[in-house]
Amino acid sequence: MNKKTVLITGASSGIGLHFSHKFAQDGHHVVLVARSEDKLLSLATELEGKYNIKAHVIKADLAEAGASRMIYEHVAAKGIQVDILINNAGFGLFGEFEQTELEKEVDMIQVNITALTELSKYFGKEMVKRKNGQILNVASTAAFQPGPLMSVYYATKAYVLSLSEALANEWKEHGIQVMALCPGATKTGFSDAAELQQSKLFQSGVMTVEEVVDEAYKQMADQKKVVIIPGVKNRLLAGSIRFMPRKMVTNIVRKVQERI
Ligand SMILES: NC(=O)c1ccc[n+]([C@@H]2O[C@H](COP(=O)([O-])OP(=O)(O)OC[C@H]3O[C@@H](n4cnc5c(N)ncnc54)[C@H](OP(=O)(O)O)[C@@H]3O)[C@@H](O)[C@H]2O)c1
Repeated sequence: MNKKTVLITGASSGIGLHFSHKFAQDGHHVVLVARSEDKLLSLATELEGKYNIKAHVIKADLAEAGASRMIYEHVAAKGIQVDILINNAGFGLFGEFEQTELEKEVDMIQVNITALTELSKYFGKEMVKRKNGQILNVASTAAFQPGPLMSVYYATKAYVLSLSEALANEWKEHGIQVMALCPGATKTGFSDAAELQQSKLFQSGVMTVEEVVDEAYKQMADQKKVVIIPGVKNRLLAGSIRFMPRKMVTNIVRKVQERI
């Protein structure tokens, strides 16, 4: 099998953690990025032991300006070629805009938007030169409409979807596949971090990380879709929203987001 190297941000838990297992299981080398170095080091040991691959750890706080550049330079200094980039790290925040902490939202924009854009640029440019590569950006079903009570998070994911679709178009002629993965509510550490445990959204029909990542993995191999929405229910919802008035959709999202 053709061994590739996959750089995964947010590899320490949830969707990123499962992506790391999935790629390693298929014999690909991994570069694991997150803040929790201890978790990444034990994951690297586990993956190397089980699957005969190389797992490299980079501790980075993507909310800090310059983190993406540091990752890029670190990888270059080690002589590692990144064939697949999974821009997965991200987080949300629940609450009314006048009450949520600005500092957390600025960090969110830095992680969900700025770092994702920088990493896509650094590694994408090299992929274009080689005329080979894949980038999967983790957006969300939140990308398809505004999200009262999580306004900044929804807006960051709309950016991720828009950027991914545009880059998919630009880089198709260079042989690079860019995709946006748009999961609905998924059982991970995300709802705790976003203070969403009581939200109606997370009280009904969440998917497992295995279901989400397995679907994404299959679609990455198929190379047909730019926007990947795991789960029939999520696909139907995302599709139906397009035909409804935007104001009505926004009101519905608010109802779904409210705490029980
Ligand atoms: N779970 C859902 O319902 C859901 C639905 C749609 C989309 N998503 C998206 O899926 C992606 C993964 O989230 P998840 O559900 O797997 O949540 P999770 O279990 O909370 O994982 C988030 C990951 O991002 C990393 N991360 C967060 N802030 C970071 C920072 N400042 N610097 C570096 N890494 C950081 C975390 O690592 P450290 O804490 O170790 O840094 C962790 O590995 C996110 O982009 C999220 O928006 C999730």
